[in-house]
Amino acid sequence: MKAARFIAINSPIVTLIMNICLVTILLYGGNMVLMNTVPVGDLVAFINYVVQVLASLLMVSGVLMNITQANVSAKRIQEVLTMKEAMNDKQEVLQSDISASNVAFNHVLFSYNDSTNAKDVVLKDIHFKAKRGETVAIIGSTGAGKTTLVQLLPRLYEVTGGSIEIDGKDIRNLPLLELRKKIGIILQETILFTGTIKENIAFGKAEVTQEEIEDAAKIAQAHEFISKLPNGYDTLVGQKGVNLSGGQKQRISIARAILIHAPILILDDSTSALDVATEKKLRAAIEFLSKQTITFMVAQRISSVIDADKILVMEDGSIVGKGTHKELLATCEVYQDIYQSQFGKRELSYEQQTLS
Ligand SMILES: Nc1ncnc2c1ncn2[C@@H]1O[C@H](COP(=O)(O)OP(=O)(O)OP(=O)(O)O)[C@@H](O)[C@H]1O
Ligand SMILES: [Mg+2]
Repeated sequence: MKAARFIAINSPIVTLIMNICLVTILLYGGNMVLMNTVPVGDLVAFINYVVQVLASLLMVSGVLMNITQANVSAKRIQEVLTMKEAMNDKQEVLQSDISASNVAFNHVLFSYNDSTNAKDVVLKDIHFKAKRGETVAIIGSTGAGKTTLVQLLPRLYEVTGGSIEIDGKDIRNLPLLELRKKIGIILQETILFTGTIKENIAFGKAEVTQEEIEDAAKIAQAHEFISKLPNGYDTLVGQKGVNLSGGQKQRISIARAILIHAPILILDDSTSALDVATEKKLRAAIEFLSKQTITFMVAQRISSVIDADKILVMEDGSIVGKGTHKELLATCEVYQDIYQSQFGKRELSYEQQTLS
């Protein structure tokens, strides 16, 4: 604000001074010319010199403005650079110690501001287990806490109460870098960087062959559209992927997560922009991958979660239903409501009858 104020005052003042100077020179000089004490040529030359000097002064004030701005920016950057990491990072556990073959949420409580007041709590008593080969789907209305839940696993946020364990070890005791290497996460908001498609897919792995990239893209159902682009994998992606459609961006970020072969895969609403047919193909393709991984899949559509080994139905930060599609249709009211809102009432009773 100080810099902005300085800049706002500075330039009008400098312009004012410049113009006052010129007016004064013209008044005095004009008078002198009229009285024939000075030739017109001298006056014009003098004005030219004065303008040159004033222009230099203007430049100096411009530099001063830049310095004030740069000063503020530098301070801010310094603040960020010297900030201490909020999370403690322990180095006790060796890399080989985590194979990530099971994950357990133990009565997890979470609020974004660390308070345990009922109105601040975003996740309440989240308790479930998952093991390698399983797909855990999370479904629920918007704002129920699905994204929050999956973000706790790579410790993007720290749990407020309870604990999360991988292979029986509290994730707070694992080295952060090792923990995150075990997790491939596709965030709800797709993030692409300026660069080629290839660079965007290979982002999580230092050394990678073209073949690996293409394999990952094939699984993510992205290979087809990428090959159709005039420059294929070398097509430039604009900032935030402006030149790609929503579904194309999603598939590129899915390929990026698949490429690192992490034992835990999190898809946060990552298929929302895909048409049902493409989504089906994608699910079939990751099916064989999911035999070696624990897959967490957040979704809005029943059709996306129907084959999951375990479906968690969330409402207002709590799990209100847990089980397979069939079990939930029979017992969970919230799940029935979601089903009904997507397929209609008749379809619901028909499905319930055929399943039972
Ligand atoms: N960074 C944040 N700081 C504070 N509150 C947040 C933050 N992110 C989310 N919330 C709140 O937490 C609650 C759960 O949000 P979350 O993003 O987990 O919902 P969601 O189930 O993923 O919804 P959607 O289906 O729309 O993605 C919401 O009430 C939201 O307002
Ligand atoms: Mg979400």
